[in-house]
Amino acid sequence: MSEPVESGGAVRTPAYSRVSLAVPMRLPEANFSGNVHGGEVIKQADSTAGAVARRHCGNRVVTAYVDDIVFLQPVRVGDILHTSSQVNWVGRSSMEVGVRIEAEPIGELTGRRHVATAYFLMVAVNEEGRPVPVPELVVETAEDQRRQREAEIRRTHRLARKAEIEAGRGPTPA
Ligand SMILES: CC(C)(COP(=O)(O)OP(=O)(O)OC[C@H]1O[C@@H](n2cnc3c(N)ncnc32)[C@H](O)[C@@H]1OP(=O)(O)O)[C@@H](O)C(=O)NCCC(=O)NCCS
Repeated sequence: MSEPVESGGAVRTPAYSRVSLAVPMRLPEANFSGNVHGGEVIKQADSTAGAVARRHCGNRVVTAYVDDIVFLQPVRVGDILHTSSQVNWVGRSSMEVGVRIEAEPIGELTGRRHVATAYFLMVAVNEEGRPVPVPELVVETAEDQRRQREAEIRRTHRLARKAEIEAGRGPTPA
């Protein structure tokens, strides 16, 4: 068992590092159909997840894995893209960060549409880019316990898929 990571006295709940960002979507973000490019939505979500992970661990972080991104509705030029994000789970050096993405027309009060959800695996790294331990996540509410439980399921599946693919490839040629 490794030593607990110094967290500067602060209790690192999901609420401690939660981040929300809002960005207007402009013409340069459009694809050939005139809607916002899916990659632009992922970029905003990744930036938000990076801010959350950095706030949780206080270190540099890198995106190691993106999974389960589901696009539910298109985002249009002229929408404000809202991203809300929090840490769902932490391992030794990795953190799963969930991001909810919503859009609303900039000039109308029609309410926000849920357009996508994504899960990012962020890893805390040192100056050399090597993984370093992160502080414990203190999960208190029933909702956060559900997110942590579901994040553990996704982690199990990620690792199992990776192991199965690697086993099927056999030893790496020298
Ligand atoms: C992410 C990175 C630091 C991991 O380095 P590594 O030498 O593989 O380190 P480890 O094997 O110790 O993995 C670190 C953590 O990531 C997790 N991880 C890495 N790849 C994973 C995968 N495919 N699935 C699930 N977990 C994974 C490990 O389980 C480990 O978690 P833990 O410490 O909480 O148990 C390294 O691969 C890297 O720098 N990647 C590039 C990141 C980057 O540039 N991102 C931006 C892309 S534009």
